[in-house]
Amino acid sequence: MIPESFIERLKDACDIEQTISYYVPLKRHGRLLKGLCPFHSEKTPSFTVYPDGQQHFYCFGCQKGGDVITFIREIEHLEYVEAVRLLAQRAGLPMPEDVEDDGTSRLKARILELNRTAARFFHQCLIDERGRDARVYLASRGLTKKTVRNFGLGYCPDRWDALAQYLASKGFTQEEMLAAAVVSRGSRGLYDQFRGRVIFPIIDLRGNVVGFGGRSLSDRGPKYLNSGDTPVFKKSRNLYALNFAKNSGSDKLLLVEGYMDVISLHQAGFTNAVATLGTALTPDQARLISQYAKGVVIAYDSDGAGQNAARRAINLFSQLEVAVTVLDMQGAKDPDEYIKTFGAHRFQTLMDTGKSALRFEIDKLKSARDMETPEGKTAFLNDFCRLMADVSSDIQRDVYLSEIARELDVDKERLRATTEAIRKRRAASAKRRQVHNLKPFVQDNPAGKSLAVKPEELGAAVAERSLIAMLMQNPDYYDDIRSKLTDEDFVSADHAAIFRAICAQLEQNRIPDPIYLSAYLSNAQMGILSLIMATGKEVTYKREQLDEFIQAIKQKPVSREEIAQLSPEEAYQRALENRKRRFSP
Ligand code: UTP
Ligand code: MN
Repeated sequence: MIPESFIERLKDACDIEQTISYYVPLKRHGRLLKGLCPFHSEKTPSFTVYPDGQQHFYCFGCQKGGDVITFIREIEHLEYVEAVRLLAQRAGLPMPEDVEDDGTSRLKARILELNRTAARFFHQCLIDERGRDARVYLASRGLTKKTVRNFGLGYCPDRWDALAQYLASKGFTQEEMLAAAVVSRGSRGLYDQFRGRVIFPIIDLRGNVVGFGGRSLSDRGPKYLNSGDTPVFKKSRNLYALNFAKNSGSDKLLLVEGYMDVISLHQAGFTNAVATLGTALTPDQARLISQYAKGVVIAYDSDGAGQNAARRAINLFSQLEVAVTVLDMQGAKDPDEYIKTFGAHRFQTLMDTGKSALRFEIDKLKSARDMETPEGKTAFLNDFCRLMADVSSDIQRDVYLSEIARELDVDKERLRATTEAIRKRRAASAKRRQVHNLKPFVQDNPAGKSLAVKPEELGAAVAERSLIAMLMQNPDYYDDIRSKLTDEDFVSADHAAIFRAICAQLEQNRIPDPIYLSAYLSNAQMGILSLIMATGKEVTYKREQLDEFIQAIKQKPVSREEIAQLSPEEAYQRALENRKRRFSP
């Protein structure tokens, strides 16, 4: 954790107005600054910067907001520590870990330096006489010199310890080489891990070489070898070429299996392609993708293994808000081959008409049944109608009902009737169980956006926001609030986290300032905090209101169906009235 004394200095050095102006032209509006939001496209400015006091920003259009560190995280796509580092660099402040004598951070820095040196060595080997075979190989795979340079590809000579000797000559110790996992220790001493392989440097989002992939030129050993985990590299948290893909300008990422797929796609103009690093997609990687893209196009190998991996990937994405399509690359084993065989244009068409995750599901149901027999067919159609009953879009339902009716030569209206019957049954039982799906409700109510709570808890959630705004304005109410309320009383997990972070600051007698809170809160939570501060600024709270807020938070209203029809403000009013009704004699 970065010491708060350092954040204090950073806060003084990095004025929010100056920092944001570097990216966004801002115009003064009284005490505020406004500009066109860099995070979503808009024609009239709703991106607002609050330069006085607790410096923060908030976009009323896309709900992004926070302190200066959050801004850098969002716009540069960086993790918290990396964003602090960038701001510190620009302000000319040395990062604490660079001045502290911390063994691990020094080792990390050495490994990164070693990796960069190794990558340069590999690249040099590829382009001089040592790399002739490798160059012939890469050319046979259709890669241009420019692509080879772009990706920093290299070659490790097929000798015992060419790299180890080179690194030693550059002053790296054996321990450092082993820690970087570029060599192994054998009975004859250190030997190079990637002997005789074409090298794919793996570069993280800050441009550091964190590891390597190596493809064998012969049939010896495994086809691909990847760096093991090191202090600077975790395979399960990185994606190959995300450093390039994040700047592709597309809101979709193209997920493929292999290094060569990524590279040939980039060369063909699909610069949003990324790949996992010799493992199946991990939950961390799926989350990483969801941070950078609204949608993902899966273009895994067309063999059985690839299709199974796609299925698993769809499952991982289904828990995130990422739209998934799956490409059906008939006639080619992978994207690299597809582009070679059919050209980039057809690949683009394939992407435009990509099989939706839904069609993929349908085919999965199909392959689970014996479609040659009437029984198998019937069973499939039942599965299919149940699946369709889950699809909320009328148009989508219609499209797939027609498609399957045509494919199996059955009556579409029959399928539709079955599907509708299932939907009716489900709707009825859903109503009985009073299952509230907040999503549509929240989407219909702009003011309730980002309030991830059940409708009947909306009133309480709005009160939570008021209470937080009040506390930010009046830190002297803290003891009183603390004696009446804990974070466990909150209905919204985000509000509870914000409340906890503020309390932690106040416990240390520090006035809560967004720049200190951003170390503990997610970007989304910082956005909520920023909204609370922005709206709170317009209001002067009276101390008497404190108990009203607390009551509304602790006591959830009862009448659910009714509440679901209300806006958050109305819901809150209703919550207060309920309370009065109950408590009045
Ligand atoms: P493939 O065997 O499909 O690779 O494995 P590819 O990209 O099509 O290979 P070539 O170069 O075109 O023949 C896909 C990915 O699986 C991992 C690698 O990350 C590879 O890019 N893999 C594969 C390994 O880690 N080790 C292996 O032995 C094979
Ligand atoms: Mn492949």
